[in-house]
Order: sequence, then structure tokens, then C-alpha cells
Amino acid sequence: MEALRVENLKKTYVSKNKKVEAVKGISFFANKGEVFSILGPNGAGKTTTIKSILRLVIPEEGKIYVKGIDISKHTSEALKNLSAVLEGNRNIHWKMTVFENLKYFGYIRGLGGKFLKERIEEVLEFVELTEKRNELAGKLSRGMQQRLAIAIALLPDTPIVLLDEPTLGLDVESSIKIREMLTKLSEKGKTVLLSTHDMHLVEKVADRVLIINNGKIIVCDKKTNLINAFKKKAYKIVFAGENGYINFRKYGKLYEENGEKILEVQLESIDQLYELIDKFKENQIEIKHLESIMVNFEEIFVNIVRSDEQ
Ligand SMILES: Nc1ncnc2c1ncn2[C@@H]1O[C@H](COP(=O)(O)OP(=O)(O)O)[C@@H](O)[C@H]1O
Ligand SMILES: [Mg+2]
Repeated sequence: MEALRVENLKKTYVSKNKKVEAVKGISFFANKGEVFSILGPNGAGKTTTIKSILRLVIPEEGKIYVKGIDISKHTSEALKNLSAVLEGNRNIHWKMTVFENLKYFGYIRGLGGKFLKERIEEVLEFVELTEKRNELAGKLSRGMQQRLAIAIALLPDTPIVLLDEPTLGLDVESSIKIREMLTKLSEKGKTVLLSTHDMHLVEKVADRVLIINNGKIIVCDKKTNLINAFKKKAYKIVFAGENGYINFRKYGKLYEENGEKILEVQLESIDQLYELIDKFKENQIEIKHLESIMVNFEEIFVNIVRSDEQ
């Protein structure tokens, strides 16, 4: 089932005669219970997209539907389904304790009574901050502050949660904790819209990935499809001979390992591989070993963005 749909979103910022086309016609949808990731380098338009969905930025073109509700027509009804943690969240009150923050923001979201009381305990447990409930928010580590921000966003128990760069500036351990939380949220049936430039996070948690650059879509697909498509096209070739192979530097990454000469290439098709093998033959270069190799998601991402820029 579709939880969120964005159609042809366009947003241009105008300031002091300067125009920035931050988002240039982006469309995608996220299904119920999936972690949908918007991946892109800095300035790609991720935050603008998230803010448009939250109605914090009003796009000049495009349609956004939350559970089928047109957000521009029935704004408050649509927004009831959303909660978010924005980039570099500054909403936490440093001089309040963890518990006081949750109570305060619960009230702001119109929650109260027994529901809020129970919900606070639930979210505290979920983000593993129960033992820190009486500590001042300002005294917590960055990772814990981020978890508190997530706890606050989870209070109203909305079906869709938007997180903008949730692991930005966090240490590895904190990032892993957040990553686990995202997976747990989707297991509970929540739709998680995650924006990040952290490829490792995407590799670990995303179901589908939208890669954007300069406000435009580069690709949108299941993460497994993206990985498989690139895995098939990457090869490691170990040369048998001593000479001649150096001319093949231009085809990929050439290096030596344990005295072996190795070339790693990424090709468009199997035909290109045969062409390359023919070239080896023409140059009397012998191949000792050839295998299809796994490329990591970081390489996939760099390659996709690079080919878009050419
Ligand atoms: N309030 C703003 N005024 C003018 N330009 C902005 C504003 N916010 C973002 N931009 C510009 O829009 C582009 C996209 O920004 P943003 O959506 O924040 O990207 P990301 O979150 O992917 O880093 C960038 O070029 C950025 O400088
Ligand atoms: Mg951003």
C-alpha cells in the first residue's frame, strides 16, 4: 500500500535576485512499512524535498499525497500522519530533562493524560533512554540527543516518519543504534522516509532508494536491484604474464597484490567484457583468473553520480 506520493516536485529559492533551483521535478512513492531512502550529495535537494512534504517549504509545482490525501488541499489532515526529525535538530530544550522534553513536546502535539504517560515510557524504551530520563538534555552525548529527538517524533505514533540525515555527525556506535531503530520501525509497519548521504546506512536499512543530484532524479529502484545491477558488471582480472598489461590501466583499477597483477573493471555489458578479452588476446596477454566481483554501495553511488555529471 502506498503511504506517500510525490509528483513532479519543483522548488526554487529566490533570495536577493539569486535563484536556486533546489528541486527540479522529482517524483517517487513510498510504500507502507518500507524504509525509503533519499540519497544524494550535499546540496542535492534532500532537505528541500523533506521540508516540502512537511509543508515547511511550499513548492511552486508538484503534488504530494499522504495516504492518498492531497497535502495542499487538506493540509492538517495529511500532516497528522507525519512526524519528523530535521537535520541538525535544535528543537530539544537543553535545560529540561529527557522526561520533561517528552512531556513538553507531547503537550505541543496535543497529547496528554494516560496516553501520553504510557507513550513516553514506550518511546523511552524504544530509543534506550529509560535510564537517562532525569538527565538534562544538554548533558547527553550527541547520539543520545539524536535518539531523544527521534523519541519526541515518535510520541504521536504516526504511520509515517521522516528523518533528515539522522546519523550526521554521530560516532559509529550511535549510528548503528539509529540504524537498528529504523529497521525496527519498519518492522512495526511504519513508513520511514530517510534522507542521507551516508551510503553505509542506505546499504544496511533501505528497501528502495532514490538517488538525486542537483535537484534531479538519477535513479529510483530497490536497493537489491541497484546492488545486483552493478555487481554483475564488475570484474577482477588476474594476469598471468609479466608484460603488456600496463597498457590496460585506462580500463579500470590496476594494482599488484602478492606479486600478482590485477585489473578491476566496471563494464556496461557482457559484450564489453568479451571485447576486453579480445584485446588481451591481440596483445598476447594471458589471463590467469577472471571473476565477477561485488562492488560496495559507495562505489555504486559514486559511479551513478559521476555518470550523471558527464
Ligand atoms: N533557504 C534557502 N535559500 C536559498 N537556497 C537554499 C535554501 N535552502 C537550500 N538552498 C539551496 O538549495 C539546494 C538544495 O539544498 P538542500 O535541499 O538543503 O540539499 P541537501 O539537503 O541535499 O543538502 C542547495 O543548492 C542549497 O544551497
Ligand atoms: Mg540536507
